[in-house]
Formats: sequence, C-alpha cells, structure tokens
Amino acid sequence: MSLTALFGCELPLIQAPMAGSQDHRLAASVCVAGALGSIPAAMLSAEALRKELQAMRSLTARPFNLNFFCHSLPQADASRESAWRQLLTPYYAELGLDPTSPPSGPGRLPFNAETAELVEEFRPAVVSFHFGLPEASLLERVRRSGARILSSATTLNEALWLQERGVDAVIAQGLEAGGHRGHFLEHDLSRQLGTFALLPQLVDVLNVPVIAAGGIGDARGVAAAMALGAAGVQVGTAYLLCPEAATGPLHRAALQSPAARHTALTNLFSGRPARGIVNRLMREQGPLQPQAPVFPLATAAIAPLRAAAEARGNSDFSPLWAGQSAPLCRPLPAAELTRELARGFAAGASV
Ligand SMILES: Cc1cc2nc3c(=O)[nH]c(=O)nc-3n(C[C@H](O)[C@H](O)[C@H](O)COP(=O)(O)O)c2cc1C
Repeated sequence: MSLTALFGCELPLIQAPMAGSQDHRLAASVCVAGALGSIPAAMLSAEALRKELQAMRSLTARPFNLNFFCHSLPQADASRESAWRQLLTPYYAELGLDPTSPPSGPGRLPFNAETAELVEEFRPAVVSFHFGLPEASLLERVRRSGARILSSATTLNEALWLQERGVDAVIAQGLEAGGHRGHFLEHDLSRQLGTFALLPQLVDVLNVPVIAAGGIGDARGVAAAMALGAAGVQVGTAYLLCPEAATGPLHRAALQSPAARHTALTNLFSGRPARGIVNRLMREQGPLQPQAPVFPLATAAIAPLRAAAEARGNSDFSPLWAGQSAPLCRPLPAAELTRELARGFAAGASV
C-alpha cells in the first residue's frame, strides 16, 4: 500500500517529530500543506500531551502522526551519577551554581498506559515510535485504536525485528539524521549506516514500505531517496527554521552560522547518542563520554548549566540537535518548505 493511502494524506512526506523543538503549530501547518505533521510526546506529561492534542484538533481535522519514545526507565547508578556530577563541577562553579543541588528525574518519558489512553481517545491516524516498540499489550492498544504504526530502524536486523512485530512501515534512519539515534538492538555505533547505504538494503528485503530519514534537506534529497526505492521520506532538521517551529533563538542562530557545518553524535545531553551541532561542552569533554548516566538520566545534571548559560546568551551547554544537512536549512514557512520538498516526488523532476 502507498504511504499516502496508509496515512490518508496527499504527500508521502512526514515532518519528523522533534521533541523540544516543535509542537502542534508546526505539525498543523504541515498537515494543511498536504504532508503528515508530527506531534512529539517524549518531553510532555500526559496532561501537557492532552492539551497538545486538543490544540492540534482545533487547528486541523487532517491526519497526523503522534510520536513516542519507548525506552525502559533505568535504575539510577549512584556512583556513575556522582562521577558525572564531578566532571561537571567546574562548569557549575564557573556559572555560580551549586553543584550539590541539580534536580534529578528522567527528563523524557516512554510510552505507557496513561499515554495509550490518549491514543485511544484522540485516535491519531499514525503513531510512530523511536527506540523500538512498546511492550506487546501496549502496542496492541495502539493497533486497536486504528492507528498505523511506524518505528525507526538503523540496521537491517532492527528493520526485520519491527516487520515481524507488524509495523505498517519502517523508517530507515541513517547516520546523518539529527536528534537521537533510534537504535535499539545494536548499540555499537560502528554498525550504524548512512541513509543511502541503509535505505536500499532495507528496500530489497522488507515487505513493508520503507521511509527514508536522515540528511534529506531539500527536493534533491527527496528525489534521491525515491530513486533508491523509498516509499516516502521523513524530514526533521530542514523544518527547524520554520517560523512555526519552537526552535529557540540560540539554536536558530547556530543553524544559520558556519557552526552548522559541524555536527557530531553525542551522549552528553541525555545519555544516548544524538546528533547535534558541536558546541563548547562537546568540544571540551569529547562528544561521547562513557561516564554519562544512562539515557535519559544524563539530562538532569546538564539542565541547570543549560539554563544559566542560555540566560547569558550562549549555547555552550545546549543540545543543538541537527542533522548533517543543517547548512541547507532555510527560514521558510512550513507550507512553503513542504511544497519545496514535494518537488522531489515529481517523476523525473529536475531538482
Ligand atoms: C531537533 C530534533 C529532535 C528530534 N526529536 C525526535 C523525537 O522526539 N522523536 C523521534 O522519533 N525522532 C526525533 N528526531 C529524529 C527524527 O525523527 C529524524 O530521524 C531526523 O530528523 C531525520 O534526519 P534529518 O534531521 O537530517 O532530517 C529528532 C530530530 C531533530 C533534528
């Protein structure tokens, strides 16, 4: 089945869910332009998510995608936590913060019974997951709500695992992608492939449609993904400069500066590798730190540093999530960007 038939929208284009950088405003603008807008739930309480869903419904009745992380919450490891805080102590001192009092807590919540109720109540056309799939009974509730189910795969093994569990389509997330890597079976980063190596390997083997994600920044990228057999594309970073996105001013400035040419995978901000523009913390500590608490527990100790630095007008401690195509980002309204990306679908189009 084509993605447009599967989702009930005009274009096989998904605006990638981007927790912390967008809400219903961007999603609704994209839906109205004929593509599938996404609402990211990972950083919202159930109550905040309900408000988001109500706001979305008040703007459009079109199909949209509701996205969840589905990690399991780890036990805090006190010795790792204290080593991590020690490593950050000089930064706390520099910013005049008390290193003994940073908040704790997960920062990002996985899909659970409470959010499953919201899926049943609001019935989004599509539900997508990152980091695998939730446990079988929760997944079954999503399926019974009538939603089409998607999840990201970063290797062929992950894609086959998802297909066996009945997803309607697989998102092939290449290494170029901005934000968190969606890997869940294979944690060795040397196994992670670029989009245009991963995509045709999945297309050759899977029976379900494959959606290309990672590094697609304009119509040329869309055309290239379609030429390699993608059923559609999921685009994140390119939407970050849209006026409807909630991208903060420092993040926007970084995206429009020469700094955007250098992104790296880092676990410093959450405990899991994610791609962002290299900033001071990544440069000084190295982007991947084995001491960082397990995802999502690393977030808490960074949060006060981030807030204090941002109040002083710098992004030294901010996660500046962006993919390798960040320099292609332009500050276009979401509908215009959606139409521009859609030019890549026209068969034989010269883009
Ligand atoms: C700022 C940002 C936040 C992201 N947050 C999420 C998220 O909440 N859920 C998710 O499934 N993927 C998230 N991603 C990853 C996207 O789903 C997608 O894989 C990626 O944007 C595709 O690569 P691109 O950014 O090069 O277009 C995020 C990406 C970015 C850039």
